[in-house]
Amino acid sequence: MDSLATMQPRLIEFSQLGDPTTGFMTVAANSALPFCIQRVYWTYSVAEDVIRGHHAHRELEQIIFAVAGTIEFTLESVYGQQTIYHLNRPGLGLYIPRHYWRTIKFSPDAVLMCLASLEYTEEEYIRDYDEFKRLASK
Ligand code: TYD
Repeated sequence: MDSLATMQPRLIEFSQLGDPTTGFMTVAANSALPFCIQRVYWTYSVAEDVIRGHHAHRELEQIIFAVAGTIEFTLESVYGQQTIYHLNRPGLGLYIPRHYWRTIKFSPDAVLMCLASLEYTEEEYIRDYDEFKRLASK
């Protein structure tokens, strides 16, 4: 587990098992992740002109995959640094620590799968951008 001070978003390349003749498989096991999975969800049938996200999390850590299609994930730190990540294959995961504002664009065929470190509670979300930016001074 990373210390809070070193927690940064990063792409993680997961191993691909199989071959082009029979197909491929990718595995995520807790022993190889920066947190223990408490929840899995997936998001799909998002029209191309829709931008999802617009929030950060107080404590949640996530690893996001585009298990189908392509997903453009923009992360902003509390200090205003923006990075765009392109998820374009099922074995590529994006690790997101707490306190990153995100916006998400989907290709029409995209399926986003998220491995999450906590179960869902709405109180755990920061949906007010000004409240998010105030974290910089804490
Ligand atoms: P949200 O995380 O805001 O979606 P996105 O980041 O893709 O825009 O979630 C959308 C809605 O679904 C919101 O009302 C909260 C609800 N939700 C749950 O009830 N349980 C969950 O595990 C998740 C992820 C969302």
